[in-house]
This record gives sequence, structure tokens and C-alpha cells, in this order.
Amino acid sequence: MKFKKSLITGIVASVAASALLISNTAMAQKDWPTKSITLIVPFAAGGPTDSVARLIAVPMGQSLGQTIVVENVNGAGGTIASTKVARAAPDGYTIYLHHMGMATANALYDKLPYDPLTSFEPIGQVADVPMVLLAKKDLPPKTFKELEAYIKANGAKITMANAGPGAVSQLCGLLFQSRLGVKLTNVPYKGTGPALTDLLGGQVDLLCDQTTQTIPYIKDGSVKAYGTTTLKRLPAIPNVPTLDEQGLKGFEVKVWHGLYAPKGTPKPILDKLNAALVKALNSPDVQKRLADSNIDIVPAQKMTPAGLKAHLEAEINKWGPVIRKSNIAD
Ligand code: MLT
Repeated sequence: MKFKKSLITGIVASVAASALLISNTAMAQKDWPTKSITLIVPFAAGGPTDSVARLIAVPMGQSLGQTIVVENVNGAGGTIASTKVARAAPDGYTIYLHHMGMATANALYDKLPYDPLTSFEPIGQVADVPMVLLAKKDLPPKTFKELEAYIKANGAKITMANAGPGAVSQLCGLLFQSRLGVKLTNVPYKGTGPALTDLLGGQVDLLCDQTTQTIPYIKDGSVKAYGTTTLKRLPAIPNVPTLDEQGLKGFEVKVWHGLYAPKGTPKPILDKLNAALVKALNSPDVQKRLADSNIDIVPAQKMTPAGLKAHLEAEINKWGPVIRKSNIAD
């Protein structure tokens, strides 16, 4: 009898404790955010991914009533940051902006400690950024045709900067070399921010970079632009031909960005994050700043968790075979 009574008391206590836990969790989700949020960026400060992150961090923070602090976790083409986010507490205080490297890393690395499709909660797609093949301003070739001849004559004497395996600058640079059938000396950096600084200083010859930071330098002649990675010319630099029109048929790399949270982040928090993202992307100030760099805002249906998930899946399926066929992971 005594045993039965203590069993019942125990069950009641444990049900009460669970109910308290559930109500505390629900309360925490309802009140979220009560402190600043960390937005992890997988490349160096001052680079294109960092710029997109900082552009959305301020208006998103204003909508959510808390500061969003950008943290740059550099190295290994973004995979160090992805690993850190995959292991972070799923409480809404860590979020992650990554570009299409999220979809290419699986094909470039033998074994990753995370799975792009199952280790994260997608929040929404952010923007599409075109790329340009750039050179230091005193590289001799004046045109893309001259550049092809110069590359064939000089091969590995030519240096090409990138931000490591998993970075789009590396993917673009290696696809370019594979199309020309040459191997240049590839120089890895922790982001294309520092790589662009070295290109401007003349320490490295070539860099395939996003338009986010590069348009003013192309316009004032601080760097040479040989071609864009788009199938149509870019309105901000209409005199720069596409690589496609100069003979590299179908050469297209458009860098899409997505916002994620660690797997298990509660849905009410993901919903608030998505609403803040959509509001930020629709603000006239953000739209103008993106348009000035020829960055396209994605359609509304892609700014959703389902839109980003579907796009990530499609991109993994698209890039895996391209990377394997080009042998650029070797
Ligand atoms: C960066 O932010 O440095 C770039 O997005 C790196 C890259 O992928 O090329």
C-alpha cells in the first residue's frame, strides 16, 4: 500500500515536472529573442558573404528587437563554420548565412561531419550574386582572347586566388581552368575579401569573384574584368562581355545564398526568423544596395524554408556531377 502511494506520488511529480518543462520551453519560444543573436558567416570579414550578412543583420535585428552580431568563422571553404553551426544549440541564438558552397561541399570533400540536408533548418533563400573573372590591372592581355593565349603560354606561372575548396571562387576558377584545359597555380585565402586586396595590390594575377564588392574597382580600372559568369551581360557593367559570348559556351555560375539554423530549432522561432528575413529583403534600402551590386533578390516562394530546401536539393544534384566530371575535387 505504502509502495503504491509513493509510486503515485512519483508519477504525479514527474508529470508535473514535464508539464513545467513544456510550459517553460513554450514560454522561451514565445519570448524569443531575449538576447542578441549570432549570425555565423563562413568566410573572412570584408568579403561578399560577409557583406550580404551584414546587410540583412541590421534590419532583421530591428524587426526582432535584438542585435544580430555577425561572427566570421573562416577556413576550409566554409566547412569549419558549417560544422560549428551543425553542433550549436538549436535555440534560435545561432543562425547561419552560407552560399551555394552548402551544395557543393559534399562533392568536394570526402567526408563531412555534417549533412547539408539534415543538419540544418532552412529559413529562406536570400539573394543571387553573379561573378566576374578579374585580373590585376597590369596583367598584359587586353581581351579575353589574348588572355587565353597568355594562359596557354604561361600555365602554372600564373596565380589564381580563391577561398578554398567549397568556396565559389575556387569552383569558378577550377571550372574555368578545366574548360581551357590548363592548370594554374591556385592560391587559397580565407575569403575573397583578402584575395581581392591582394589582386588590387598586384600580388596575385587572377580571381573569379562575386560582384558584391568588385563593381567599383572594375569601373575605376583598379582591376581588369575579362568576362562575367552570367549568360546575359550585367546592367552595372554593360561593357564587360559574358564568358559564354566569348567562347566558353554555357559557362554560368550564379551564387545563391541561404539562411539556416541548427537542426531542431523550434518552428515558432524559425517562423519569426523567416518573417524578419522577408521584411528585410523587401525594404527599399536593402533592395537598392543589392541592385547597386547587380545582386538579384529571389522570388517570394524561394524566401521560405520549403523554397530553400528544394533549391538546396536541386543544387546538390546539379553540382555533384559537374564537379566529378571536371575532376576539380582531385
Ligand atoms: C567570401 O565571402 O569570401 C566568398 O563568398 C568566398 C567564396 O566563396 O569565394
